[in-house]
Order: sequence, then C-alpha cells, then structure tokens
Amino acid sequence: MRPLVAGNWKMNGSRAMAASLVAEIRTLAAAGPASVDLLVCPPFPYIPEVGGGLAGSAIALGGQDCHMAAAGAHTGDVSAAMLADLGCSHVILGHSERRADHGESSLLVAAKAKAAIDAGLTAIVCVGETEAERDAGKAENIVEKQIIESVPAGANSSNLVIAYEPVWAIGTGRTPSVADVAAMHRHIRSLVADRGPVRVLYGGSVKPANAAELMAVAEVNGALVGGASLKAADFMAIAAGAAVSA
Ligand code: PGA
Repeated sequence: MRPLVAGNWKMNGSRAMAASLVAEIRTLAAAGPASVDLLVCPPFPYIPEVGGGLAGSAIALGGQDCHMAAAGAHTGDVSAAMLADLGCSHVILGHSERRADHGESSLLVAAKAKAAIDAGLTAIVCVGETEAERDAGKAENIVEKQIIESVPAGANSSNLVIAYEPVWAIGTGRTPSVADVAAMHRHIRSLVADRGPVRVLYGGSVKPANAAELMAVAEVNGALVGGASLKAADFMAIAAGAAVSA
C-alpha cells in the first residue's frame, strides 16, 4: 500500500512560519520520494496561506478537526465543507489531544467522520491507549472499542485512514516496540477488514531516527507526525524512511 506521511502541526507557528515551512517542504519534496503521499495539516487560520504555498504540488492539505454539523449556530467551530472549500482533502479527527482537551467521545468522533466523508474529505480517525491501559494489558481492547465506536457507517478505504497513536508515545520521545506496533496494527487491520484496504498509520514520536524501522513494520502504511513535522528536513527524512518500505 502506498504510504501516507502526514504532518500534524497542532497549535504551533505563525503565519510567516507556516509560509516558510510549506515552501521548504515543497522544495525538499520536489527532490524527495515519489512513492509516498504527503499531507500537511496546519492550524485553521493558516490553511489558506499553506494551501496557496502548495498550489500545483502533489502535497495534500488537511484540517485538524471539524464539527459534526454541516453549518449553523456553533460558535468557534469549523465545518467539513469549509475545509473542503479551502482545498483540504483530509481532516484529522479524534486526536487524543482533542479527546482530552475537549472531552471528545468516540461517538462524537464518528459523527464528525461522517460529516467529513459527506463533505468529500478523507477522515483520519485517531485511536490509542494510555500508558495505564497498556500496563493493564488492555491496549487492544481499548483501541478495538475506539475503532468500533469512532468509525462511521459508509467509511471505507477511499475516505478513511486510521492513525494508531499510543497516548503515552505522543510528544514524549518514547515509542512502542516494533513487535507491539505490529500486533496492534494487525488487530486494527482485522477490525476494518470489511472497509477495504484502509491505510493504518502509526503516530507518536516518529522521528528521522526511528522512521525507517517503524515504517518497515507490516501493516504500517505511513505516519502521523507531530513535533518532527515542524522541521521540513525532519518531515522529509521521515517520508524517505517510509519510502524504503513502500
Ligand atoms: P508527536 O505527535 O510526533 O509530536 O509525538 C504525534 C501526534 O500527536 O500526531
């Protein structure tokens, strides 16, 4: 399966930083691996700036969240159609930081994913266990419940990507063992088998130094990258790591 390497910029940067980062990524990508799909997900206000910087390139643009409703009285929210209108093709949903910061439930994530798919976007649905859940031997059960509840009817390999992101690996520099990643990805694959060949990304402290090893794991179809996506050279080194296993 063709890997997808997605940059989740989170709530970082400035308009000027977004413009220069996308320009650098674009330059490096022109000489980078052609066998990997690239996606950048800037903060909402910088989507037009970054979209302009990507015009004419093969690098895709995405949002970091959307509302479950198509439009209406939802102060501070952004609809999937608005993201599509700005040239986005993807949206990250149910990231653990949104689940924690905003109390998002898997059922809400499913409603958002349905809205995204209805608007023509690909939903990147994030799942992952906490450290306490892994220590208690419950990681696969927790992720299974999140997948069952967060993936809506109608989602399939053309409009759905799953990102497995252990909460304890995000922003910590720690990653699961290759064996644990492989086991979880196999489990996720079995859970979405009826949706077709859905890409299952790994996320959580993906860096240039560990990208090739993680991306070489069977059933890992790319990466969702946080901190390292804010440096063009690191982001593209991760893409190169994914290309090796493509
Ligand atoms: P990280 O974040 O790469 O900084 O660990 C990953 C993510 O939260 O998507």
